[in-house]
Amino acid sequence: MSAAAKIQLDAHGRLRHLLTTEGLGRELLTEILDTAESFVPVTRNDVKKVPLLRGRTVVNLFFEASTRTRSAFELAAHRLSADVLNIEGSSSSTTKGETLLDTLKTLESMHVDMFVIRHGESGAAEFFAEHAGDGVAILNGGDGRHAHPTQGLLDVFTIRRHKPDVAGLSVAIVGDVLHSRVARSDIHALRELGVRDIRVVGPKTLVPPELDALGVSVHHDLRAGLDGADVVMLLRLQRERMSGHYLPAGSAFHRGFGLNETTLRYAKPDALLMHPGPINRGVEIAAPVAYGDQSVILEQVSHGVAIRMAVMAMIIGAHRT
Ligand code: CP
Repeated sequence: MSAAAKIQLDAHGRLRHLLTTEGLGRELLTEILDTAESFVPVTRNDVKKVPLLRGRTVVNLFFEASTRTRSAFELAAHRLSADVLNIEGSSSSTTKGETLLDTLKTLESMHVDMFVIRHGESGAAEFFAEHAGDGVAILNGGDGRHAHPTQGLLDVFTIRRHKPDVAGLSVAIVGDVLHSRVARSDIHALRELGVRDIRVVGPKTLVPPELDALGVSVHHDLRAGLDGADVVMLLRLQRERMSGHYLPAGSAFHRGFGLNETTLRYAKPDALLMHPGPINRGVEIAAPVAYGDQSVILEQVSHGVAIRMAVMAMIIGAHRT
């Protein structure tokens, strides 16, 4: 088990931080999903507030762009009645040379309780967790290629709502697996829930060989990879992380690995179509299927609020006792 997986749990096996979906265990992961389920009605009420984090302060510290994750964490914190501080890396004093450690210690000195951090470097959230003071929790909002645990959790939450027998499903994860922290978090979460048939599908340049160790099967042919799949999870082509010539132009990628009305038929007729967003229309996914009958992409976004509420509430609850 990785160091991040170990330090995120306290001596009683409860969430102290959330850095990765690796090593959460089926019981704790299921508790997170069940807690999120209990928050879904709160996210839909006229008055979308509960007092669980009243008097607490959450810092959203984002060094990379985000629409879904940052908004959902902010909404989740507000709906739990916390105070929220939003800081963008591009306007923080890190641009003047302040280190990440000094940024953490500076904000901690204002007696905040929880940080959500997104950073381009793998391990940034773990670094924060290693150096955070007693009682300060770190939530990983995505670090480099390493992990995006709340995305992994909201993805399995969405799958479980549609197909409760999660362990028996065939799940195909398609596209730019190499650069994807979402793929890694999804794979760990699915494995913790007992899913045996997890396939990664993509061109050879975008599927790293070390994934074999995670117990997935690798496919470089879309039809074979989607054959009989219950869930098709597409990934965004992350051009901003590509320094070399990993793949041909977007249109050529779509011809080989893109999802459209024709290629979606390779999967089961009732397969769920998922994507963490943001989508590249016409590259990994065609717009008609992105918003078609099988798509649950916007449900994933919606569930992101309940999942983040659950994680925050469980961490604060563990800190209280
Ligand atoms: N899925 C996801 O992380 O989206 P954002 O980059 O918009 O947060």
